[in-house]
Amino acid sequence: MESDLYANQPPAERKPVTAPALIKAKSEGRKIVSLTAYDATFARLVDEAGVDMVLVGDSLGNVIQGLSTTLPVSVADIVYHCKAVANGLQAALLVADMPFLSAATPERAITHAGRMLAEGGAAMVKVEGAGPMVDIVKLLVQRDIPVCGHLGLTPQSVHRLGGYRVQGRDEQARAQLLEDAQRLVDAGASALVLECVPSAVAAAVTAAIPIPTIGIGAGPDCDGQILVVQDVLGISGGRRPRFVKDFSEGKLPIREALAAFVNAVHDGSFPDPEHSYSG
Ligand code: KIV
Repeated sequence: MESDLYANQPPAERKPVTAPALIKAKSEGRKIVSLTAYDATFARLVDEAGVDMVLVGDSLGNVIQGLSTTLPVSVADIVYHCKAVANGLQAALLVADMPFLSAATPERAITHAGRMLAEGGAAMVKVEGAGPMVDIVKLLVQRDIPVCGHLGLTPQSVHRLGGYRVQGRDEQARAQLLEDAQRLVDAGASALVLECVPSAVAAAVTAAIPIPTIGIGAGPDCDGQILVVQDVLGISGGRRPRFVKDFSEGKLPIREALAAFVNAVHDGSFPDPEHSYSG
């Protein structure tokens, strides 16, 4: 069976990725590739690279706004960045993160998730946690808003969790994770992010549920992987979590280009006649 995801074709020639296409990809054993993006330029670059799913994450609080947690990120922030990303995408599925407490009640969830789709141009929202969020997920799906769940380390729960720690390490937490994943599936979620859980736990969840798991610090057996784009490029700064790999290996052309610009202005070689107007 031919996959609906065609990573090796230019975005204009690929079918736009949909929520059902993600589930089909899992059934075909085809890995799903996901990255965050927060503006049109990076959206275009990651789309051209063949990414299937682009998340406007509340991680924008960290990498765009310079905050130490994601808690202050607002619905307006996500909508603003979604609009920009939507303008840069042709094929990848656009997922909008629901910020802290923005889906805490059914009314807030419908209003805010509705804005992500209607104003932001997203095709799916991501909601952290299970518990009371399961009914919210069900409601959103019933209202035709596809949902990606998010379990394991949920950064919006940082104060309850006592820090950014690996989750699901003991038997009880592992059983709870499996139960929560199944409840999100039953509520109609289309995909599930698993963050910072032992590889064996992520593998067990992945084997147990029919929707794709998208791992971040969750080992190689998830159905897909997601990272923050600044982390992949090695430009996010600060302490690098174990699950982050700098795929530029410290040799990012952006750094070299910026250094060359600074040197060229200092030594007077820029602008040269080729980059100046005459007459
Ligand atoms: O906010 C975010 O970018 C995320 C991903 C890293 C999963 O939640």
